[in-house]
Amino acid sequence: MSQPQNTFKLNDGIHHIPMIGLGTFNGTKQGEVGNAVKVALKSGYRHIDGAAFYSNEKEIGHSLKEVFAEGEIKREDIFYVSKLWNSCHRASLVRKHCEKTLEDLGLEYLDLYLIHWPIAFENADPSGLTTESLKDEKGYPIIAPISIRETWQEMEKLVENGLVKSIGVSNFNVQNLLDLLTYAKIKPAVNQVELHPYLSQPNLKDFCDRHGIILTAYSPLGQGKCDLLTNELLKSIADKHNKTIANIIFKWLCQRGIVTIPKSSNPSRIIENFNIFDFQLSNDDMEKINSLNSNLRTCSPTRMWNIPLFD
Ligand code: A2P
Repeated sequence: MSQPQNTFKLNDGIHHIPMIGLGTFNGTKQGEVGNAVKVALKSGYRHIDGAAFYSNEKEIGHSLKEVFAEGEIKREDIFYVSKLWNSCHRASLVRKHCEKTLEDLGLEYLDLYLIHWPIAFENADPSGLTTESLKDEKGYPIIAPISIRETWQEMEKLVENGLVKSIGVSNFNVQNLLDLLTYAKIKPAVNQVELHPYLSQPNLKDFCDRHGIILTAYSPLGQGKCDLLTNELLKSIADKHNKTIANIIFKWLCQRGIVTIPKSSNPSRIIENFNIFDFQLSNDDMEKINSLNSNLRTCSPTRMWNIPLFD
């Protein structure tokens, strides 16, 4: 089979992930996310990145149903990603949560299912059927004694049973991956991490390249929490190519072989963000952008859960 346009091949040698997808976390708020998905699919996106934790899969499911009903875009034309939340890692829960996501989305299979974080939380509900985690007296989630190995083995069964085409991980560091690779029968296809010019992750990228794992960059614009979108160096490269700074960042990622999933609920920005396939950055541009790395993280598990995963 020939390689579909603007995709990277996954390590099973069969499936392909589109280089750019629409992120659906908070940025695309409840009530707006359904519209964002429709705008994205109609303007050329073929990759949607979601998660059970975002609590919007039903709304997205409605939009997918409407888009498919129009007849131009079929299920098999799109690449749909979802993620297993931290409180759902127990072996007995993995398939149930995947099935819930499929039901909410109205899909028969996912193209890619990721372990959202390499951290297991106790579920607040004894049945384990919610994504709510049990909290300690300070309000932090209680860590559950469940290994990633237990969870991964269930993820592998989802592939074997046809619920998902590929499996991968998110927010895994090199140590997490090293361990996973010692027992994985199915290697992770993707590791989705925070990645942008201020956090360009050269060592993780190199490690993933050596093990055939594609990196996906979330928060490629730093969630709007830093000054990436006004950075002077990026602005000068953007002006030279007659593009926006966002376009330059996404192109820099694609040329490094990294998938990206910018979030937006604004139709014109959704369209703008996809407009990266008609120009090329020079080696000099690439190196200048690489030089902006300052290991600045906007998504901190220390802040959220008091777990210093990356510190
Ligand atoms: P909006 O929904 O109003 O477009 P990230 O993907 O790094 O987390 O960044 C998401 C944030 O960046 C959202 O707040 C989104 O706001 C904004 N955003 C997305 N695309 C662009 C763009 N092309 N230019 C400026 N801001 C953008």
